[in-house]
Amino acid sequence: MPLPHCWLNGRYQPLAEARISPFDRAFLFADAVYEVIPVYGGRLFRLRAHLDRLRRSLEGIEMASPLSHEQWLDVLNGLVERNGGGDQYVYLQVTRGAEDGRNHAWPDGLAPTLFAYCSPLPPIAPEMLERGVAAITAPDIRWARRDIKSTSLLPNVLLKKQAARAGAFEAILLQDGFLTEGSSTTVHVLLDGVAHAPPNSHAILPGTTRSVVEELALRIGLPTRSEAVSEAQLRGAPEIWLAFSTRGVLPVTRLDGKPVGDGRPGEQYRRLHAAFLAYIDELAGTPPL
Ligand SMILES: Cc1ncc(COP(=O)(O)O)c(C=O)c1O
Repeated sequence: MPLPHCWLNGRYQPLAEARISPFDRAFLFADAVYEVIPVYGGRLFRLRAHLDRLRRSLEGIEMASPLSHEQWLDVLNGLVERNGGGDQYVYLQVTRGAEDGRNHAWPDGLAPTLFAYCSPLPPIAPEMLERGVAAITAPDIRWARRDIKSTSLLPNVLLKKQAARAGAFEAILLQDGFLTEGSSTTVHVLLDGVAHAPPNSHAILPGTTRSVVEELALRIGLPTRSEAVSEAQLRGAPEIWLAFSTRGVLPVTRLDGKPVGDGRPGEQYRRLHAAFLAYIDELAGTPPL
């Protein structure tokens, strides 16, 4: 359930009263980009990485950045405060705006629609950490610019539903015999004691949580590598993790109905997860930008 206050086009207002035009290009064309930013103890987590990615997404769809990082910081801090601080996440979206009618090629000079709202951060159920989550594999049916965090999410939506119908948490995607990522997560795979994730490219979203995993792995003496992971490597891996903003890192313990490793969260996962929690505590009270 979203929290009651939102920010729309420069104004804080009750979410229940927020209105946009049906001619907004986000509604007609999914002509928009977005970010999801976790907030721990009222503090925006890895804000710079999220805002840098937002800027790259906007460049990718030929839009100028409507606000500077400092302006976003003010807007989002104000929103988080109005919604009571604590643990939550911010969803923010920038659309190309509304025009009179519907044209694929947009007219110049549209005013973008800017929107942000908050939700409580879903608590991670203890059994999710104790037992891990299930995943299925599926062909990656998405477009060729997955590095742009676009609201055009129909393939992701269909893939996530396919996973849910199979009683799984995530669909892990394969293309030409290699791992890309999850429908809404970065996938890390432990191979010979090294945590692998495919290199960032147009084929996957550059995950902000992925960078946290890589930094923390370094701290705990676990080597990491950005390298292609084959389907066979994925299926034979002793540990698979999902990294994403709203949950941090989760262990996958069943893949297509078969146990991953011994079917329980692995040793390296436990170490990394502990480092993640410690890192959040360590950041408390430090400037978010
Ligand atoms: C397709 C996809 N990959 C990866 C991620 C993980 O990105 P982040 O860690 O920045 O949340 C997401 C997040 O929603 C996603 O949608």
